[in-house]
Amino acid sequence: MNDTREYFNDVASRWDSMRRQFFGEGVRQAAMAAAGIEPGMTVADVGTGTGFLAEAAIEVGARVIGVDLSEGMLAQVTARLAGKPFEPRQSEPTSLPLLEGEADAVIANMFLHHAEDPPATIREMARALKPGGRLVITDADMHTHEWLRTEQHDRWLGFDRGEIARWFSAAGLEGVTVADTQEVCSPTSECGTKAAITIFLARGQKPLN
Ligand SMILES: C[S@@+](CC[C@H](N)C(=O)[O-])C[C@H]1O[C@@H](n2cnc3c(N)ncnc32)[C@H](O)[C@@H]1O
Repeated sequence: MNDTREYFNDVASRWDSMRRQFFGEGVRQAAMAAAGIEPGMTVADVGTGTGFLAEAAIEVGARVIGVDLSEGMLAQVTARLAGKPFEPRQSEPTSLPLLEGEADAVIANMFLHHAEDPPATIREMARALKPGGRLVITDADMHTHEWLRTEQHDRWLGFDRGEIARWFSAAGLEGVTVADTQEVCSPTSECGTKAAITIFLARGQKPLN
């Protein structure tokens, strides 16, 4: 997992332009709409990177806790969101620095395929939700682009939507849906292979009691 941290430290200053080549605004809009973010909410953006989702949540009027493994990414996002209601927190590879019940919403874009233990990570994210809070994850559907493991340190080659739904339910979330965003992730390999990986949006709500 230290490799993951080193990789993202290395690309942190270039991440915004890389991200624009990989996926577009539609993912962010879909995640924001599904999370139901409102002014005054506390939102945790896990694997925040340079703050793609965090920035949009702040624009709506939320306070954002930005969690990331990479100190390079956290330095970028902290500079970018200076003066805004944004709190950076560095995570360890297998645990999230979030208190039980501290977030109205937990959101994560393109983070889960880097997580060591995705179902355990989903449980951690659900634990951080207040009763009635929502977890929204956008990530890659299953694919066969092995080169993403070596070139971009992807740990998982996407996910099966049914499995994601089971992990959400096992984490105690209700009203679970896993839908298509109509968006694709389009990275290009060092030897020129261009991928077009569909992106799902998973949503679930913590029971009120
Ligand atoms: C593909 S980037 C996505 C960044 C951002 N969410 C976006 O949409 O632009 C994945 C991010 O997850 C972070 N990350 C990877 N493993 C992590 C972990 N175990 N805990 C927290 N963050 C992690 C990386 O440092 C990186 O910033």
